[in-house]
Amino acid sequence: MTTDTASAPLPLLVLGRGTDLHTERGVECPGDLPAASDPGLVERARAAKAALGDRVFVLGHHYQRDEVIEFADVTGDSFKLARDAAARPDAPYIVFCGVHFMAESADILTSDEQTVILPDLAAGCSMADMAAIAQVEDCWEQLEAAGVAGETIPVTYMNSSAAIKAFTGRHGGTICTSSNARTALDWAFEQVGGVGLDGSGTGKVLFLPDQHLGRNTAVRELGLSLDDCVVWDPHRPNGGLTRDELERARMILWRGHCSVHGRFSVDAVEAARREIPGVKVIVHPECQYDVVELADEVGSTEKIIQTIAAAPAGTSWVVGTELNLVRRLAQQFPEQRIAFLEKNVCYCSTMNRIDLPHLVWALESLVDGRVVNPIRVDPTVAAEARAALDRMLALPGKTHKD
Ligand code: 13P
Ligand code: SF4
Repeated sequence: MTTDTASAPLPLLVLGRGTDLHTERGVECPGDLPAASDPGLVERARAAKAALGDRVFVLGHHYQRDEVIEFADVTGDSFKLARDAAARPDAPYIVFCGVHFMAESADILTSDEQTVILPDLAAGCSMADMAAIAQVEDCWEQLEAAGVAGETIPVTYMNSSAAIKAFTGRHGGTICTSSNARTALDWAFEQVGGVGLDGSGTGKVLFLPDQHLGRNTAVRELGLSLDDCVVWDPHRPNGGLTRDELERARMILWRGHCSVHGRFSVDAVEAARREIPGVKVIVHPECQYDVVELADEVGSTEKIIQTIAAAPAGTSWVVGTELNLVRRLAQQFPEQRIAFLEKNVCYCSTMNRIDLPHLVWALESLVDGRVVNPIRVDPTVAAEARAALDRMLALPGKTHKD
């Protein structure tokens, strides 16, 4: 089967219109939300949380709004939140303030008795939407036809649908996050004979769906070359690659990217260095390779926070990650000078879908005995996806502090 380019799905549905639960795309959000202008929202959220007590556990990703983070029991990057969700088997309700793929992963990692709730179902992820399961299956068939699937291990970024995580589990691969991508790639190459930088290695990794995280990790951390990396374009026949290119490749990178981190540019880094004497540039590994190469530090959201927290007072930073987090860092560390690595405001629009009205609505509904927006992954998909997630959680030596 070859992907029909004409009928290939659009990267995103217009938010609030239509549903396609087979992908990670935005879907409509039903329900009577409190008005955003209601001055009692903070008090209502407090009262609902107090009424629910230990029955609810609220997780908040670092990119969430301040008004939501205020009510999170724990905050973290996607790796930490996956672990935190798995570590609370006693909480019947997990309210996930993040995006859809994170809530799916939490559902997979928690027991059948627990319910994961995403306060707004339109909180998807445009990067995750860049890989649809039919396209990924199609890619694998073509790797089989080219005779390279047997020496290829899929490594899938957390930012992907449960169906693609299940594909990864079925084919012996692992999930990774931005804080353990290097460990995951080391593990994957070990399964196919090692990285073999002396030219002896032939095994491959199919890295989904963020080409930048895959390239940055393979080249900057594992020592592979840019020439070892090829990009699989799901909208072109055979991914746009010749058989020879596929055979020679060590990293087959899916053509996906983050619409927020993809915006940070080399020009912005150079302008910051010109304008702010002694500035340090810290960026997320979802940024483009050239940007990451120019930065002083690179790391997951958790690592960015830890690095800035540990720096001496008076250090100047420009930060290339989502704006909610950068603004919060600037407030939390007033003794540092912290600026955003982009002249224009740039929030993640889907992370921002979760706001106080949606959180209040989800919590008050639970108080009334109604579960709204439950995220339930099909049990077969969940079992296969869990195999890949468990491989990630068992990776050696990994902590988000690395
Ligand atoms: P981390 O939370 O793993 O740093 O990932 C950032 C991100 O883009 C989540 O969507
Ligand atoms: Fe997806 Fe990028 Fe938003 Fe993260 S920041 S949820 S990767 S679009």
